[in-house]
Amino acid sequence: MSIKFTYVGHATYILEIEGQTIVVDPFFTSNPLATIKAENVAADVILQSHGHFDHIEDTVALAQRTGAKVIANWEIGSWLQSKGLTNVHQQNIGGGFNHEFGHVKLTIAHHSSGLPDGNYGGNPAGFIITAAGKKIYLACDTALFYEMQLYGEEGIDLCVLPIGDNFTMGPADALRAVQFIKPKLVVPCHYNTWPPIAQDGQTWAKRVESETESKAEALGPGDWIEI
Ligand code: NI
Ligand code: MN
Repeated sequence: MSIKFTYVGHATYILEIEGQTIVVDPFFTSNPLATIKAENVAADVILQSHGHFDHIEDTVALAQRTGAKVIANWEIGSWLQSKGLTNVHQQNIGGGFNHEFGHVKLTIAHHSSGLPDGNYGGNPAGFIITAAGKKIYLACDTALFYEMQLYGEEGIDLCVLPIGDNFTMGPADALRAVQFIKPKLVVPCHYNTWPPIAQDGQTWAKRVESETESKAEALGPGDWIEI
């Protein structure tokens, strides 16, 4: 069984696992990189890392149209319920749960997480997804932190790391993160969306391959890989 990973652009991804479509941090409508419109996206599950608009912009509409189950922390889950969503599964940092397509654990992320209307979004998170015999670590919006080594010890097949700098770790810290995590393959995200996070993904991927044991692939918007 393989997993298809599509890079929508910025920090939005679509995973296809065991016949289920999982959308991570739905940001389509005002995403300058997205080549697909929110109304054309299918979803069985939505993973919500934190509350910033560039991650949650299309979550409510996508979940309402598709009936997708939204996996989020307690505070964001409650906020989504207050917006009318009923299919919400709340977890929190360090907690894992066996969903239909696989196991999802919320990881530490050093960032912030206010919701678009000013409500408190709890702690931001990343995800470790264990499914189809593979392990994927989506670091989501975060700074570099030492505990990434613990996640690496789980044996990561695919890791997605922010490299944009300014709002998250930049290329140098992301390279150190690869050295901590030692994934088989790493994909950069959260860059080239707006001028403050302009980076050269191809150059970063080359550096990863020359300075670490990991493979790296800078995917363009809409590009997909199978692992
Ligand atoms: Ni953010
Ligand atoms: Mn962000």
